[in-house]
Amino acid sequence: MCGIVGYTGKESALSPVLEGLRRLEYRGYDSAGIALTVTQGAPLWVAKRAGKLGNLESTLDVVPESHSGIGHTRWATHGGPTDSNAHPHLDNEGKLALIHNGIIENYVELRAKLEARGHTFISETDTESVVHLLSDARKAHAGDLAAAMREVCKELRGSFTLLAIHSDEPGRIVGARRNSPLVVGVGDGENFLASDVSAFISHTKRALELGQNEVVDMNASAIIITDLDGNVLPHKEYEISWDAAAAERGGYDHFMLKEIYEQPKAVADTLIGRTEGLDPEITAGIDFNAIDKVVIIACGTAFHAGLVGKYAIEKWADISVDVELASEYRYREPNVTSKTLVIPISQSGETMDTLMALRYAKEHGAKIFSVCNTNGSTIPRESDAVLYTHAGPEIAVASTKAFLTQLIAMYLIALHMGTERKKLSASEHALLADEISSLPSKVEQVLETVEPLRELTRKFKDATSMLFLGRHVGFPAALEGALKLKELAYMHAEGFAGGELKHGPIALIDQGTPVIAIMPSVGSLLHEKMASNVQEVKARGAIIIAIGDADLASADYKVRIPSTHEFLSPVLSVVPLQVIAYEMAIARGNDVDQPRNLAKSVTVE
Ligand code: M6R
Repeated sequence: MCGIVGYTGKESALSPVLEGLRRLEYRGYDSAGIALTVTQGAPLWVAKRAGKLGNLESTLDVVPESHSGIGHTRWATHGGPTDSNAHPHLDNEGKLALIHNGIIENYVELRAKLEARGHTFISETDTESVVHLLSDARKAHAGDLAAAMREVCKELRGSFTLLAIHSDEPGRIVGARRNSPLVVGVGDGENFLASDVSAFISHTKRALELGQNEVVDMNASAIIITDLDGNVLPHKEYEISWDAAAAERGGYDHFMLKEIYEQPKAVADTLIGRTEGLDPEITAGIDFNAIDKVVIIACGTAFHAGLVGKYAIEKWADISVDVELASEYRYREPNVTSKTLVIPISQSGETMDTLMALRYAKEHGAKIFSVCNTNGSTIPRESDAVLYTHAGPEIAVASTKAFLTQLIAMYLIALHMGTERKKLSASEHALLADEISSLPSKVEQVLETVEPLRELTRKFKDATSMLFLGRHVGFPAALEGALKLKELAYMHAEGFAGGELKHGPIALIDQGTPVIAIMPSVGSLLHEKMASNVQEVKARGAIIIAIGDADLASADYKVRIPSTHEFLSPVLSVVPLQVIAYEMAIARGNDVDQPRNLAKSVTVE
């Protein structure tokens, strides 16, 4: 939540800062702001506006020349999305500017203390306390902004990425992080700081990881990283494996549509070299025969991938699996031992709920094997082992290609565990691996047939509610379809297990209620059961849209997908659901890539 960018170098700073904000806007879009150092010792140049980045950009007619600056795009936590609550926040002299991502938990007491010392506040944010604190600390440290930042970080409770500039030292940017992302981009005569690498990918592919409670002090030619005691730390450099084009729309109307169509490649890339077993380098440190339980922790879409993973791991590796909402997990103090394998799933690798659940499990002795799409992010860094998905950058807030690759990661882990634990024979493994390997082309086939869904979706544009039914792995697919529709179409949508309807939810069915039924393959026991559940809702007036590998006679509308192994079917059945949600957003005039109230990366609890 919130996108943060900093630039220092030879270019006019406005351009790379704005470019970074455009690329990071998916992280939050309630307001945006920029601060630039212009004249040494004079107040900073600052512009900030409520609303999307475009509002700010429309005010930027005359901007003074500057070679260093910071920018922020906000997802509001403390204080509404107003001009005065927008970042950057300034000290009372207007010479020190600060941007922040996260939550300062002790801001109330800090604010009271600072007001008593004579500081004047103009916003309702938690962040403004930090800029005043930093201002005092800088004076106490003879103008050393990095030393001041280290001292301030020790006083803060909560999570933060902070970037600060002071007009006495144009060209210097100081940043810090705790439980919130910040990466350094290393350029040639220029350096960058950002919430993620997409902000500076068109300038450099060299990035440095920043660890917990680390402070970075940079100018155009030098980067110093320290801990909070000022000890200098080595740089952990890595190369970004994708390029700027991957983070652009590339001719599509929306990032979401582009990402839907990138799914065959994302699935194929995630599979490369892994179907026969996972590389020992990936699984080093995990003994799959020494565990007695698997716990999958995740949020939102990633949670739904975990639910599918449970079916595959329990069946193929013969071990019991719990799937837990990360935000609930640690608060019930679950039983965790050194024999528990915890699998956090996260596209961003920064989701605070998932990170906190991971830490709880780790503190209680569990081994952590994460599934993540973002190199160098916090969740993989704190894990014993990581299986990276290769979806590439996912910019649209609604997750699509990341979900499909998370499903693939689940199958790969289940296969690997099954073989390691001698629960799958070589021939069973080979058969499953073959079927998994055919998924990229089957996803491609689904995408070739989704066109009629556009018109179909428009028929239900004014519906007040849509229900999704599934059984077995079709149930998590139904949950995912409903989540997509909620976040994009802003309409009531719920996923149900087909057999559960008669226990209450069937009362929701009215004349004309659209119901999407995810049908198990013909011939399976569950196909018949599901067909009966469909009849039950149809008899009460529902309009049925059936998704399956055969036509369901009782359906009003039929969406055909290729046949596959039952456990793998969500990889195919979810694609039409994504398209329906996308089309519904368009039909209802909603913002597809930046739905209201949401942010891509949820870095607060
Ligand atoms: O980055 P993560 O995978 O940890 O994010 C988890 C959820 O916030 C995310 O999947 C969210 O539910 C999506 N916006 C849904 O489309």
